[in-house]
Amino acid sequence: MVDATRHPVRIAVVGAGAFGREHLDRLAARDDVAIVGVAEPSRAASDVVKGRHPAIPLFTDPVDMFDEVRPDAAIVATPAATHFDITSAAISRRVPVLLEKPVLPSSAQAAQLVAMTNDGTAFILPGHVLRFSADHVKLASLVKSGTIGDIIYIDSRRYRDASHARRYPDTDPVLMTLIHDIDLAVWLAPEPFVSVRGSRTAGPGFQSLTTADLETASGIRCHLRTAWTFTDGDLPPDRLEVVGECGSIELDAGHSLRLYVDGRCTELPLTSGDDPLANEHDCFVARIRNSQAPLPVSMNDAIIGLKLAEAILQSLASRREVAVSW
Ligand SMILES: NC(=O)c1ccc[n+]([C@@H]2O[C@H](COP(=O)([O-])OP(=O)(O)OC[C@H]3O[C@@H](n4cnc5c(N)ncnc54)[C@H](O)[C@@H]3O)[C@@H](O)[C@H]2O)c1
Repeated sequence: MVDATRHPVRIAVVGAGAFGREHLDRLAARDDVAIVGVAEPSRAASDVVKGRHPAIPLFTDPVDMFDEVRPDAAIVATPAATHFDITSAAISRRVPVLLEKPVLPSSAQAAQLVAMTNDGTAFILPGHVLRFSADHVKLASLVKSGTIGDIIYIDSRRYRDASHARRYPDTDPVLMTLIHDIDLAVWLAPEPFVSVRGSRTAGPGFQSLTTADLETASGIRCHLRTAWTFTDGDLPPDRLEVVGECGSIELDAGHSLRLYVDGRCTELPLTSGDDPLANEHDCFVARIRNSQAPLPVSMNDAIIGLKLAEAILQSLASRREVAVSW
């Protein structure tokens, strides 16, 4: 554990593609963090880092970087297929990791990684960034405090432009974007989902609309959808709606948060200037400094999400409802 609130936490970043750079730009703006290295095999991507952050040491291999700079912590923002090897190398060197979603391509690999952290020497924070979004936190706390009564239905949508199908040809939209909606459902539902049915429209590759319907043992229903079909530009906002026995609450991300109870609609203020990724960094840094600092999302939550994602993929392949056992 890093002592001293005086010394910056020394963080290494693995992967400097589109999202790794989002991490880097925010970390570079903090005075409680020193970026001690970036590992990135692509020349084009590392040249962008060199242009924006000329002082940061660049490496092509994450393990060489871990051994040379011995960071206090690492952020892994590479394709999911590489997460196991990179994160296990970090964990075995006692380096805690903020691991981008999907944390692993399979729940079995995720469980294997968690087992490596059981001695408590390093932790993994799953990069489920919406858990750090102030408006999502507000919605979740209203739901959990019973404002709309017991939950009966959750609906979440996430539409992206068609370039996603070209940029991520090897990662199914269920793991790439629907995993956010799955995680929201896991966060909000008071009991586990026990059945799952997926559907997907025809499209070239992943350029299609994917839906998933989930149900708990007591009959709470959930409908999730993601589309990689839109033209870049104005897209419908990500949307989360939760219906309870006596009302509902709906968040149009970045646009509105509305509570419907007692026959009245109350427009709740959005949190201005909120930056969920910066909040995620706050939480990661706090935990690196203090092993008792809370993590709002655990690898166990991520594993539950991955098991549901696997059931959805199985349902897409079999065109049948899939039972999920816990
Ligand atoms: N939390 C979010 O909202 C969010 C949004 C976008 C992406 N992501 C996640 O971030 C990760 C990266 O996504 P992206 O959009 O930046 O992809 P990207 O393809 O733009 O970038 C990935 C980078 O990783 C590099 N890389 C590949 N193998 C590597 C290795 N072994 N060591 C070091 N670098 C390696 C590639 O060269 C590439 O530059 C994925 O897991 C993705 O799901 C999360």
